[in-house]
Amino acid sequence: AANPEPKPVRELTEASPIKIGFAQVGLESGWRLAHTNSVINAAKEENIELIYENALQKQDKQIEFIRQFIASKVDFIVFSPVVKTGWDEVLLEAKQAGIPVILSDREVKVSDDSLWTAYIGSDFVEEGRRAARWLVHEIDDSSVPVNIVELQGTKDSDPAVGRKQGFEEIIRSEPNYRIVQSMQGDFTLQSGKKLMLEALAAHGSDIDVVYAHNDDMALGAIEAIEQYGLRPGRDIKLISIDATRAALKALGTGKLNFVVECNPLLGPQLMKAVKDYMAGKELPMKIITSEGVFTQETAKRELATREY
Ligand code: AHR
Repeated sequence: AANPEPKPVRELTEASPIKIGFAQVGLESGWRLAHTNSVINAAKEENIELIYENALQKQDKQIEFIRQFIASKVDFIVFSPVVKTGWDEVLLEAKQAGIPVILSDREVKVSDDSLWTAYIGSDFVEEGRRAARWLVHEIDDSSVPVNIVELQGTKDSDPAVGRKQGFEEIIRSEPNYRIVQSMQGDFTLQSGKKLMLEALAAHGSDIDVVYAHNDDMALGAIEAIEQYGLRPGRDIKLISIDATRAALKALGTGKLNFVVECNPLLGPQLMKAVKDYMAGKELPMKIITSEGVFTQETAKRELATREY
């Protein structure tokens, strides 16, 4: 459905280009760094002025930056919400100021969807399903008990909620699969390592599989498993999401078993949406990126051309 929000009408000149305020969630992961660079570089390419702010994974900071953008009368506000809820008030302020809001990579849950104009990013539920489908296919014996440790991303964030939901949806029909521990991290390598050390202390070698909500947490879990004296990828299988170069390398060395892609290179699509909107075109509410999956075999080929 197209969003009926009023369009900003002003004349664009070289001296007054399109101006975007970009409230990035943080710099928590390799994926996030690639996303930030993609947005900054795409803006440069299109001669679009971009004010970049890093909210350090804090919602109050993101809200503060959005308010600053409203005050400085930007043409667009772009942000990757740290959590799904709690945005109604500030997005209403943006709407009342006539500033369209584009969600670049995470969705929000608000009482009125006309508070945002478009979402550009992934289908996180499907990513979780892809992770679980691989596991079910890989185990290929429904009588074997499968003990899973889940390392979740930031509590109440769109990717953490979606990836959990999609994964559980698929393993629900496997009676021998059990999530023995599911813990909340923050998408950083440090949190993945810390949580995995806790899981190992509680369940030791009973753990068969680690499902990490992103690569950085999986890489932290690999360090924890090695520190504990087990072999990641062999004694314990690891699945993660993102497909950064670091994860593809870990697939190549056999320490990771499967990675679901989440594409961070959203800058060009974002700038296209901004320009289309300024030209009076209607934007689709959701622009979902197409993504793949990587096994230990297919990762090697991809590494040669991987940008992030
Ligand atoms: O919102 C996308 C997620 O956020 C990525 O999977 C993760 O690496 C990042 O921090």
